[in-house]
Amino acid sequence: MLVPMTDGHLDQAAALEQVCFTDAWSRELLAQTLALENAYNIAAQEGDLLLGYASAQYVLDEGYINNIAVRPDCRRQGVASRLMEALLAWGAERELAFLTLEVRPSNMAAYGLYRKYGFETVGVRPNYYTHPRENALLMTYYYRKENTP
Ligand SMILES: CC(C)(COP(=O)(O)OP(=O)(O)OC[C@H]1O[C@@H](n2cnc3c(N)ncnc32)[C@H](O)[C@@H]1OP(=O)(O)O)[C@@H](O)C(=O)NCCC(=O)NCCS
Repeated sequence: MLVPMTDGHLDQAAALEQVCFTDAWSRELLAQTLALENAYNIAAQEGDLLLGYASAQYVLDEGYINNIAVRPDCRRQGVASRLMEALLAWGAERELAFLTLEVRPSNMAAYGLYRKYGFETVGVRPNYYTHPRENALLMTYYYRKENTP
């Protein structure tokens, strides 16, 4: 089930970051994000087990997805889809113009997830990532047609 992410999720979320990303967010950074008024942090859990989580922030009517991650042994079961649907609903409720994010072009799972939910590739940030160095694709979901480029 989906629940608001709390301090109680931080240990498992930080461990999941380590498994998923070479530039993993620390427990401290995750905790700081939880405390932000303009952030939305959502967890998928089963009992005490954190299956995955997602985090987004907004400034004015612009939304930015910080991260979305699912435990390796729980993937391809629709967990990220449920988290993404919650993020999109949050943005709609806040009347955001768009939600945007960066993704490695080599990350086919994440790219597939974003395409499934209607994110479009709108740009490239050269050499954005390190370990290994890679460009980032900038992908955006537009809530309103008039905001599309
Ligand atoms: C990307 C990630 C969050 C997907 O989580 P998930 O729970 O397995 O995703 P879902 O089961 O909800 O799948 C949703 C869609 O994503 C795409 N997808 C997921 N895994 C995929 C894979 N291995 N290959 C290709 N497409 C994939 C598919 O389009 C899928 O839709 P479908 O099941 O209808 O075909 C997960 O692989 C992950 O945590 N990866 C490591 C962290 C990461 O890279 N996060 C994104 C950073 S930008």
